[in-house]
Amino acid sequence: MHTTLQEEERERRRAAEIAGRLLEWYAVHGRDLPWRRTRDPYHIWVSEVMLQQTRVETVIPYFERWMEQFPTIEALAAAPEEQVLKAWEGLGYYTRARNLHAAVKEVAARYGGAVPDDPDAVAALKGVGPYTAGAILSIAFNRPEPAVDGNVLRVMARLHAIADDIARPATRRTIEELVRAMIPSGRAGEFNQALMDLGAVICTPRRPSCPICPVRELCEARRAGKETELPVKGRAKAPRPVERVAAVLERDGQLLIVRRPQEGLLGGLWELPGGDVTPGANPEEALRTLLRESLGAEVVVGAHLADVRHVFSHLVWHLRCYRAELTPEAEVAGGESVRWVEPEALAEYAFPAIYHRVFAQVLPRRS
Ligand code: ADE
Repeated sequence: MHTTLQEEERERRRAAEIAGRLLEWYAVHGRDLPWRRTRDPYHIWVSEVMLQQTRVETVIPYFERWMEQFPTIEALAAAPEEQVLKAWEGLGYYTRARNLHAAVKEVAARYGGAVPDDPDAVAALKGVGPYTAGAILSIAFNRPEPAVDGNVLRVMARLHAIADDIARPATRRTIEELVRAMIPSGRAGEFNQALMDLGAVICTPRRPSCPICPVRELCEARRAGKETELPVKGRAKAPRPVERVAAVLERDGQLLIVRRPQEGLLGGLWELPGGDVTPGANPEEALRTLLRESLGAEVVVGAHLADVRHVFSHLVWHLRCYRAELTPEAEVAGGESVRWVEPEALAEYAFPAIYHRVFAQVLPRRS
C-alpha cells in the first residue's frame, strides 16, 4: 500500500491518541486481579498460562491456591508431576500444566530460578508461544512486546477496520506489528493489559458497549457502522465425535482406576478403565475387549450406569459407563498405572472433568 509521509504522520498521531486514552481509561477502570498486585515474573507467567484458554473468574481461585502451594519457581520445580496435575485439575488443557512444569524446571536449572528478561530466551521456554512471551516480557519487564490474544485481535480489528480473517496467522502478525507500533514508551505492560481489558469489558464480541468506550471516536469500525460485523473469523471445524466406554470395577469396596499415557490428550491424568469404541461396534463387547487388552483381565459387563458427554476443542467424548465384574480367576496387570482405591481416596488423584460428573452419578453418596 502506498502511503504518503503526511498519512503516516496522521496515523502515528492517531495511534498515540488511542494509546493515551487507553492508558487513562485503564488507570481508572482496569480490573483488580490477583496477578496484577505483583510484578513477579513467575506469578505473571503462571497467570498467563492459566488464562490462555480459561476465563478470568475461573482462573482466580486456581491462581491463588497455586501460589500458596507453589510460591516460587523452586517450589514448583521440586514438586512431583502428580501434585502439579492435581493442582491444575478442572482447568483443562493439561498440556499447559506439564509444559509449565517442564519450563519452570528449566528456568531453575539454567537461569538460577530467575525468569530471563530476554525475548529469545522466554520464547524458547516450553509452552510459551508468542502471546505468552509478549505478556511476560511486557507485564513483568515492561519490554515493548505485543501480547495479542483473542480480545486484542478483536479490539484491533475494530479500531483499524481490518476485514481479514483474524484466525489466519498473517492477520495476527499484522496486528502484532500494529500493537508494537502503538506501545507507549515505558508503559508496555499497562498498555497491553488495557487492550485486554477493553476487549473483555467494553469491546465484547457480540454487543460492544461503544457509548462508554474511551476510543469510540477513533474507531474505524464504528465510523463505518461495522462494529458488530468485525472481526471476521473463519469457522473452526466442528469437534469430531468419539464414542468411549468405561467400567466401574469394584472389588472389596475398592475401585479400579488407570493412568492415561503421559503423551497426548489428558496425558498423565487418571480415569476409569476403558477406551475408544469403533463407530457402530457394540459398546459392551468393546469394553470387554479393551479391558482384556489393557489389563489382561476378563470381565463380565453389567448394568449401564451413565452417559456423559464432554466437548474438547477438537473432539467430543460420548462416554458410556457400565458396571463390570472381574471373572473369579482374573488378575489385573498394568503396574504403576493401575490402582485399586477406596472411593474416599479418589480426591487424591487428578481426573479429567468428565469423570467428576461420572462419579457424581455412579457414586452418589461418596464423591
Ligand atoms: N487475559 C490474559 N491475560 C490477561 C491479563 N494479564 N489481564 C487480563 N486478562 C487477561
